[in-house]
Amino acid sequence: MKIGIIGATGAVGRQMIDCLDEQAIPVEELRLFASSRSVGRTMKFKQKDVAIEAVSQDRLNGLDAVFGAVSAELAKEYRPLIQKAGALFIDNSSAFRAEEDVPLVIPEINGADAFAHHGVIANPNCSTIVALMAAAPIANISPIEKMIVSTYQAVSGAGIPGLRELHDQIHSIEEGKPVETEAFPAQIAYNCIPFIGSEGTDGYTSEEAKMQNEGRKILHLPELRVTCTCVRVPVFRSHSVSVSLQCKEPVSIEAAEQALRLYPGIRYMKEGYPMPLDTSDQDLVYVGRLREDKVFDGGLALFACGDQIRKGAASNAVQILRVLLSKE
Ligand SMILES: NC(=O)c1ccc[n+]([C@@H]2O[C@H](COP(=O)([O-])OP(=O)(O)OC[C@H]3O[C@@H](n4cnc5c(N)ncnc54)[C@H](OP(=O)(O)O)[C@@H]3O)[C@@H](O)[C@H]2O)c1
Repeated sequence: MKIGIIGATGAVGRQMIDCLDEQAIPVEELRLFASSRSVGRTMKFKQKDVAIEAVSQDRLNGLDAVFGAVSAELAKEYRPLIQKAGALFIDNSSAFRAEEDVPLVIPEINGADAFAHHGVIANPNCSTIVALMAAAPIANISPIEKMIVSTYQAVSGAGIPGLRELHDQIHSIEEGKPVETEAFPAQIAYNCIPFIGSEGTDGYTSEEAKMQNEGRKILHLPELRVTCTCVRVPVFRSHSVSVSLQCKEPVSIEAAEQALRLYPGIRYMKEGYPMPLDTSDQDLVYVGRLREDKVFDGGLALFACGDQIRKGAASNAVQILRVLLSKE
């Protein structure tokens, strides 16, 4: 296959290069695209140097699939070029997730939806992937009606600039220098920021709204209600979520444990608990702290943690292509 990655130098794009190899995608040619700032540099794929190029119709032509790892604005700008080239576009941004004819896919949960694409498939929001991976096995026992989710989101969720900002702020503070803030709305070092995304009209942020909107589409539960609070925390990698949920019928701890243990892509922890340092640089979502919810009658509470650059973005996107290839 001839594959392109747009945004190859970013947090998600870099990871995607490794994921193609790890998931044994038969790559005959890989073209890497980034901004003009990176043109002329090279990146390694299977020990070979691949040049970074600027996006152009000419260089998109001939590709079978293109992974998007750029902002939503750029994804919208490049979509017509990718579609003109006749390539499948698997995009990581929020640009197309709400579109009716764009499947929004977490392969373990709704992999079959990927086949209904019309040239574009969207990768869900990273916190949504971590939360839904933990919730889906329980939803299989009885449909989820309500969820209350709090997220603890790593700085790399804001890409390379987010990673740099936490690193630089820690050093500035240690050296007694002034702290500079650009990627986040406040100092993130030694702090928590309960605001991610942009402000909505109902008091929720754009990031918080995704949990309900995307959850409904992925779980095929159009009535699902979600209250979500998204918090940026000074963790470099791996998002965590605390979830309280109520299903149509009460679900016992034993039934939920059994479902979580058997579900692909999950490591269920009866002992100990999921933590970002343990879940980084691998693809499983860890789920633990399973207990009865004290507010939702018959409901459950749990904590989950997963590498949002991998399962929350790059490896999930490559997995989508893997699903499509498995039926060819
Ligand atoms: N980070 C996460 O955990 C995560 C998780 C899920 C989804 N996402 C989504 O994935 C997308 C990428 O996020 P990221 O975190 O990887 O961001 P990032 O680290 O900031 O990387 C952005 C990428 O976009 C490239 N770029 C900038 N302007 C460009 C242009 N005009 N043409 C082509 N490429 C251009 C950059 O290239 P240069 O290096 O040349 O500037 C870089 O490769 C975003 O939509 C984000 O919301 C991110």
